[in-house]
Amino acid sequence: MTTKPENDRVVIFDTTLRDGEQSPGATMTHDEKLEIAEMLDEMGVDIIEAGFPIASEGDFEAVSDIAKQAKNAVICGLARAQFKDIDRCWEAVKHAKRPRIHTFIGTSPLHRAIPNLDMDQMAERIHDTVSHARNLCDNVQWSPMDATRTEHDYLCRVVEIAIKAGATTINIPDTVGYTAPRESADLIRMLIEKVPGADEVVFATHCHNDLGMATANSLAAVEAGARQIECTINGLGERAGNTALEEVVMALKVRHDIMPYSTAIDTTKIMNISRRVAAVSGFPVQFNKAIVGKNAFAHESGIHQDGMLKNSETFEIMRPQDIGLAGTSLPLGKHSGRAALRAKLNDLGFDLADNQLNDVFVRFKALADRKKEVYDDDLVALMADSASEE
Ligand code: KIV
Ligand code: ZN
Repeated sequence: MTTKPENDRVVIFDTTLRDGEQSPGATMTHDEKLEIAEMLDEMGVDIIEAGFPIASEGDFEAVSDIAKQAKNAVICGLARAQFKDIDRCWEAVKHAKRPRIHTFIGTSPLHRAIPNLDMDQMAERIHDTVSHARNLCDNVQWSPMDATRTEHDYLCRVVEIAIKAGATTINIPDTVGYTAPRESADLIRMLIEKVPGADEVVFATHCHNDLGMATANSLAAVEAGARQIECTINGLGERAGNTALEEVVMALKVRHDIMPYSTAIDTTKIMNISRRVAAVSGFPVQFNKAIVGKNAFAHESGIHQDGMLKNSETFEIMRPQDIGLAGTSLPLGKHSGRAALRAKLNDLGFDLADNQLNDVFVRFKALADRKKEVYDDDLVALMADSASEE
């Protein structure tokens, strides 16, 4: 049986290896999945959704090997609302010290039409499949896919059925990234208030980023009572991706003053796993991506560089070291000023008098107008040129 987290503790459920890998072109090899799972486990992720065991032989093998290897994390597999899926999922996750079965069905009108079940037939299917999963495993998560476009009365009804059938976590997916922060919070609050038995289970939030609101929607759900966030490294995932783990974790850390919830994540491991996921999935991280983008801790303009050299809090709200970076970077370009140029030249071993710096600064600006970035080697060459002309 899962234990409910302390009231301020948010469980981090990582689905990089399942929803993340469903991103077209993001397929990872067996060994790569094991490596990422080990890194997730080591960084303190509470639950790793390792795959969809019925999807392929390869997925089954990956989930069972991750289940065998995991040291601390709960290992979860995904299953549709079908006995054969749930049995296959259990066969894969049962090797874990702490296994979980996650079963789901689409409950919105659009999704109910696909298996052609009416509301009563679907409710019966939910009861039967969640009970079946619970007979196999004492840790069962149930998701009404497309919950944010499901009629509220029906959503309350099926969530209650899933709880009565033995689900221990109820996940509320915003499958198509349609909700907005206030609505995300209202939905969780409504379910917790209205559904009998809601206080016995953990509510989870699973957001997609189609409108760029996944992180905001996840945090709003937490403020309304959800205590599990489903997310992926670098926000990898279907279409525009899932909630990015690094964003919600750092938001809770940096703005603990207004969102007093904690996670078990060792944030200094974020950068490493971000780079590794980008490499194995083949999905590069955009330069200006929050937290892990190349420019997230880089400052080029003169005013910003000058500020950063005097006090890093002028333009940074978190320390780069907190996510595992060595430090801030002050790349030199046409927007840079004298202070950053002097600091960089000092690092390179050049100690210039003010008039010398003025001269080099003019040459530097001319070079920076021709190049996007001025590298250390460019500066060394520039200094050599200046010396030969003296
Ligand atoms: O987005 C979604 O609805 C899902 C479910 C399978 C939980 O990924
Ligand atoms: Zn999803």
